[in-house]
Amino acid sequence: PLIKELFGLTELETRLQRSLGLKKVVVVPGDSDRSDWVKKEMGRAVARILKITARPNQVVAVAGGTTLAAAAEMMSAFPGLRETTFVPARGGLGEVVELEANYIASLMAQKAGGHYRLLHVPDQLSEEARQTLVKEPHIQEMLELMRSARIVVHGIGDARAMAARRKSSPGLLRRLEEDGAIGEAFGYYFNRRGEIVHRGRSIGLNLEDLVNVDKVIAVAGGAAKAEAVAAILPVAGKDTLITDEAAARAVLTNL
Ligand code: F6P
Repeated sequence: PLIKELFGLTELETRLQRSLGLKKVVVVPGDSDRSDWVKKEMGRAVARILKITARPNQVVAVAGGTTLAAAAEMMSAFPGLRETTFVPARGGLGEVVELEANYIASLMAQKAGGHYRLLHVPDQLSEEARQTLVKEPHIQEMLELMRSARIVVHGIGDARAMAARRKSSPGLLRRLEEDGAIGEAFGYYFNRRGEIVHRGRSIGLNLEDLVNVDKVIAVAGGAAKAEAVAAILPVAGKDTLITDEAAARAVLTNL
């Protein structure tokens, strides 16, 4: 707390919380675009919140990405999380395995000393295959478990960076550009006004499902994500944002 006062981070937290309409904002010092330890600090904040708020027999759904991977790395064994089941928030989104929600859910569970269940679905599904798959009893059961999540932890990305990382087709890249996609979360691409301009075909939790979730924790840092955070949080966020100083300052100038 003392160090936060010195850097004016507490004030940043309060300002962001008000302007984004959130319950809680945590700002860690630094810029995660420039130094890796900043992502780890955000990860440490995620781990702390998960420990403080843990309830027996809860389900925690986690998204993919480097930020959530850092959060999993920073998790450590905690008795209160022993009866927690970690699940992915969505199926594959075309990421390398270390950045997939499945992998991150399993890592978090192992580190925390909890359980995990995974969603085994391929990435690039045709609409037809997708509809068949979601009817499979095993997938249905898993989707129900995911929808029962008490806590959802997700990342936010810059739209262009995410589309490129997922090796999206030139056609999709062009469409996203034309539609003014600026940020991405949960497989949804948003424009500056926070409107959904594109939605991927992966299987898992939808934005509508978040209504039933007790605690939604968004984790995103780095000045490069400021526009995405400023666009998405006011519409999709309702609870907690964990970010870094660089993103926080840039978001406030973007709003
Ligand atoms: O692909 C999963 C995901 O959580 C996206 O929804 C999000 O945009 C991205 O990862 C964030 O990735 P990173 O933390 O590496 O910036």
